[in-house]
Amino acid sequence: MNFSFSIPTKIEFGSGICTQVGEILKPYVDKKVLIVSDCGVRQAGILKNVEESLRNFKISYEIFDKVEANPSTQILEQGIEYLGMHQCDAVLGVGGGSSIDTAKGIAAMATNTGSILDYEGINKIKNKPLPILAIPTTSGTGAEVTASAVFTNKDTLFKTVIMSNYLFPKVAILDPLLTLKLPSSITAATGMDALTHAIESYISKNSNFLSKSLAIEAIKLIGESLLQAYYVGTDVSSREKMLVASMMAGMAFSQSRLGNVHAISHTFGGIFNIPHGIANATLLPYVMDFNLFACPSEMKDIAVALGADVFGLTLEKAAEQAILEVIKINSAIGIPKTIKELGVNLELLPQMIDDSMRSPNTISNPRITTSKDIKQIIESAYHGYFPTKDFIEKGREYNVLRNENVYN
Ligand SMILES: [Fe+2]
Repeated sequence: MNFSFSIPTKIEFGSGICTQVGEILKPYVDKKVLIVSDCGVRQAGILKNVEESLRNFKISYEIFDKVEANPSTQILEQGIEYLGMHQCDAVLGVGGGSSIDTAKGIAAMATNTGSILDYEGINKIKNKPLPILAIPTTSGTGAEVTASAVFTNKDTLFKTVIMSNYLFPKVAILDPLLTLKLPSSITAATGMDALTHAIESYISKNSNFLSKSLAIEAIKLIGESLLQAYYVGTDVSSREKMLVASMMAGMAFSQSRLGNVHAISHTFGGIFNIPHGIANATLLPYVMDFNLFACPSEMKDIAVALGADVFGLTLEKAAEQAILEVIKINSAIGIPKTIKELGVNLELLPQMIDDSMRSPNTISNPRITTSKDIKQIIESAYHGYFPTKDFIEKGREYNVLRNENVYN
């Protein structure tokens, strides 16, 4: 029953609240704020509203818009140099998780020495960063309320996770209207990233009552609104639900950490540059299959939260419905069925296994995970095979618990 829970981020949520950015951020900026973003967000005109509001409140700013998906340490170093050149004393990430993570990295490295990679792990950052401020423009990563940031080392292609309480933003401004024009493919990928956060947090070994409450409500909200947001992008109500759900999932996993989906998907992002949300979405049902017997009650809760009718089913069968619901959502929004379709190359399996096992997320995964397990999950996801589900449905030989290669 013992647990601690801490979210130091001030949250401002509301449709149209973006016009009040200047007023909200004024207390956190002394001289000048560095806006960290990407070209897509800038071209979509999203920064215009932010800039106008900053000007109205006489807050000076500079813009660094070079952020790319799966941000590398090189981009981060450019951002740090830019910050120094313009003498900014606060950093505002505007965009998806990549922009907000880069903002966190720049703020941290403005006050710490060496490379961001030196701070891999948990609470390794020594000095307090510059104030971190965040405006998400997708409903996905929840980075606006988390204590982590991820950077790809271009030399090793390893996605390094830095977790530190210093990386919690001071303020998160969430305006659902900023997400109305997101293309459906981005809505799908980021929405499934949020669902993966919520599910992995809910079943995490480190979850607690509060994190679980946030996670299950996020799962429910995403189940209610993702398809609507995907098919009718301008529907404000579903966009509001998705943005609040991604934030709640972020709050949940900032306490509980994640699981094997993220441990493995980070290697796909690092090695093959596959977008994070798509990699998660495709892997999610396979990892749920792997975890099914480790947390059947939680899986049943997830099935119910996603709208499955489990009345009269055995626990095992009810739990399995969670996998089926996720597969159903994936196929409704165009997520590939296998990682083969994503371009994952099994020749690099040894590196994928090593990098996955290095992730702290395998430790919080509910089922104890070995290198052999990671190999089995990746192979299953490549060939489109669900060992546990098949066992429940068809009574096929169940050899997963013996960690045998299912293809032998
Ligand atoms: Fe994620």
